[in-house]
Amino acid sequence: MSGRHTGPVALCYGTRPQTIKAAVIRRELSAEGPVVALDSGQHYDYELNALLYQQLGVEPPDSFLEVGSGSHAVQTAAMLVRFEELLRSHDARAAVVIGDTNSTLAACLAAAKLRIPVVHVEAGLRASDALMAEEINRRVVDAVASLLCAPSRRSAAQLERESPAGRIIATGDVAHDVLREQLPRVPPAASLLSPGSQPHYAYVTLHRAELTEEPQRLSAIIDQLGKLPVAAVFPMHPRTRASLERAGFPAGSRGTLTITPPVGYHESLSLAREAGVVITDSGGLQREAYWLGVPCLTLRAETEWRETIELGANTLLPPEQATRELHRTCERLLHSLPAPWDRTAYGDGHAGRRIAEAVTRLISSAA
Ligand code: UD1
Repeated sequence: MSGRHTGPVALCYGTRPQTIKAAVIRRELSAEGPVVALDSGQHYDYELNALLYQQLGVEPPDSFLEVGSGSHAVQTAAMLVRFEELLRSHDARAAVVIGDTNSTLAACLAAAKLRIPVVHVEAGLRASDALMAEEINRRVVDAVASLLCAPSRRSAAQLERESPAGRIIATGDVAHDVLREQLPRVPPAASLLSPGSQPHYAYVTLHRAELTEEPQRLSAIIDQLGKLPVAAVFPMHPRTRASLERAGFPAGSRGTLTITPPVGYHESLSLAREAGVVITDSGGLQREAYWLGVPCLTLRAETEWRETIELGANTLLPPEQATRELHRTCERLLHSLPAPWDRTAYGDGHAGRRIAEAVTRLISSAA
């Protein structure tokens, strides 16, 4: 669609995975009209923020809100106030929010109460635990947004059951756009691994509340990771490190496990691409492993990305079973030759364009 608008559209985000997706969305929105990029500053460490702007070749945000960490209420409230000021001062015509974080919720509420239409990217995902922070955030945002951009057929069908028709568009997953575009720029993993780690190694990331709120179990799982039959590399999220250190557990390398500081997007893709298995609780890595054809072991009782399970690309292992079964499950995945699975469950890698065009239609219809 060649429709252009005079905007501006506010693109609101603030955590590492959102900053990565925002790069593509921002470029596509900019082709349609003016955009203001508002980064809440929920993630502020270099590897979780500034490095991503560099790697993805995007300009810094128009505003960095410097909200930082805090309890859910403190963090969300601070963002709500700042997003409201900026949406108002920029006279935003629409607000685009991504995913299910506190940044997503705050930007959505600020915009909706100013009667600015909200566009939700990654809409329609559901977990059974209705009180998980991310689940609360995504259900509220889906209830309030004017336009729901679904990354998969299942999420679109979920929204059709819940929402009035006319608000839903199946766009595919923006994370696929970014992976497709960035993969050629990714360095070889050898430069990131200790000698002798390849050819088979496990790439590990763990950061979710279900794990970090139980530091004793988390520490026991990390001990198991140090006893895997292959080398494992674990760039540790600051939240995971903080949880271990607060409870007096070691947060360093052990056995066959190397723990490193967080890595950038390119390094993470590189480690995932060449791994024998990915062990994670991150929604982003579950899909990246799926697109890269690498078996994934998810340390959760469920996943919002159920297609990856149905297609045989992903295996769930609840944290309470992980201390007993990690070794065996991991060995099985390393030694099974994965059948090549269908990789089209989350669209064709052109979600950003569809989202931008839909935003233009939304603004034009409201004018
Ligand atoms: C947030 C999202 C989660 C998402 C994740 C992606 C919510 C409720 N959760 O989790 O859904 O999967 O981002 O990474 O929004 N910290 C730092 N440096 C930083 C940022 C955080 O050290 O730059 C530490 C602080 O100790 C902080 C803790 O990490 O208290 C948690 O950070 P927070 O932003 O609250 O949530 P995440 O765990 O990153």
